Amino acid sequence: MDKKTMIDLLNEDLAGEFSAIIQYVTYAAKATGPYRPQLSAFFLAEVGDEQGHAQFLANKIVALGGKPTTRAREVPPAQTNREMLEAVLAAERRAVKDYTERARQADEFGDKGLAVQLEDMVREESTHSEETERILRDWPL
Ligand SMILES: [Fe+2]
Ligand SMILES: [Fe+2]
Repeated sequence: MDKKTMIDLLNEDLAGEFSAIIQYVTYAAKATGPYRPQLSAFFLAEVGDEQGHAQFLANKIVALGGKPTTRAREVPPAQTNREMLEAVLAAERRAVKDYTERARQADEFGDKGLAVQLEDMVREESTHSEETERILRDWPL
């Protein structure tokens, strides 16, 4: 694992975090029906964590001598509440999978601090993923 590859991988993660922020802000606006207040609040409550992840990644990329991306990964289209929750679940599961792999790669790269931080992000993304899965488990429609 060389530095250039590590920076490129972290930039891919940063694009994912920017996407998560856009996803939650726009989905919060689009939530409809009797559960709108709770759904909207649930989506908006995630933004702070994702912003924290984005800030960490941008800073780490610069610390490593790289340039943080300003691009966001494409937000999947979703119209209904269920489609939005399913898209969020897919994104959070991907984040868990990506950061699990990234923590291993950071260890291989020899940066323990980065590895520990990425593992911490695995814990947070797992909570997001599990909460969303539980909301969907008994979703009425
Ligand atoms: Fe995140
Ligand atoms: Fe998340």
